[in-house]
Amino acid sequence: MVTDPIAQMTHEAEAAVQAASSTADLAAVEAQYLGRKGSLNALRRTIGTLPPEERPAFGARINEAADALSARIAARRAELEEAELARRLAEETIDVTLPGRPLLTGGLHPLTKTAERVKEVLSGMGFEFVDGPELEDYRYNFDALNYPEDHPAMDEQNSFFVTERKLLRTQTTALQGRIMAERRPPFRIATIGRCFRYEAIDATHHHTFHQVDVFMVDEHISMADLKGTLGSFARAMFGPETLVRFRPDFFPFVEPGVDYAIAWKGRWLELGGAGLIHPNILRAHGIDTERYTGFAFGLGIERIHLIQADVNDLRLYLENDLRFLRQF
Ligand code: FA5
Repeated sequence: MVTDPIAQMTHEAEAAVQAASSTADLAAVEAQYLGRKGSLNALRRTIGTLPPEERPAFGARINEAADALSARIAARRAELEEAELARRLAEETIDVTLPGRPLLTGGLHPLTKTAERVKEVLSGMGFEFVDGPELEDYRYNFDALNYPEDHPAMDEQNSFFVTERKLLRTQTTALQGRIMAERRPPFRIATIGRCFRYEAIDATHHHTFHQVDVFMVDEHISMADLKGTLGSFARAMFGPETLVRFRPDFFPFVEPGVDYAIAWKGRWLELGGAGLIHPNILRAHGIDTERYTGFAFGLGIERIHLIQADVNDLRLYLENDLRFLRQF
């Protein structure tokens, strides 16, 4: 049987058009039959092999077939495009009734919150907050605080020195000398800030931590004022029933000196040191020690939050792990 190549190709092409399941498939089918190197052009090239009288009719049939196929493809393309659009619309629907994704909001660090509470309590007692520099003169960090020549705290081992005379302050008590150089009593000053010590890090010690230091100088200031102030402070921070304890301790800048602890869950927990300002310091600043006396105390800020929140490792405050920080 002699097959008609045009009819055969048309038949094949129509089946392929119908079978195309996407516009991309269809584009491939179109190239295969109607493209420059496609089947129809291949048939056109056979025209020259036909007897001359058959050529016009054959050529005309090829053109008809090409037009018909083009029309089929266009129709199929419209169908496929519509289906593809419908599918995309279904997939990409936005459900406007879904709740929005919450925006991440920042929060205050627990130490910032603790410092703010400390500030609130001490401001309420009439203390004025003043900032001191973190990079401190050796003079204010040690000399002005009545340290004897060979006191171990001054050892380079314990401090980060930047130059011979400049170091990262090891205690906020360094502010005392700066204030006394400028002001005359009476004054009530408090300061909160970062301190640095070159020491081994463990669950209760860090190289970087925060202290609050408080001192006042006025007439008739005694240990009773210090104990009253620290008692009120403890009750404001830890609850109205909180008991405080003072035991003798030594710091070069106070006389007498005490350590200060609160009763917490059946134990005494130390918060810091305190005492009456050493007369040598007042005298060094030309303050009449017959008339004026003063008290001073210094506490760790981390320590306060550790106790309040039952945290067992102070290193967590500097790690910035949100799993920890989000708890407060
Ligand atoms: C002092 O720093 C004295 N300046 C306190 C003072 C002030 C006494 C005024 C008398 C008058 P001390 O070294 O004990 O004292 O530190 C006070 C508190 O700071 C400690 O109780 C502790 O809570 C905190 N602290 C000290 N070193 C570290 C450290 N490496 N890591 C974390 N907290 C620390």
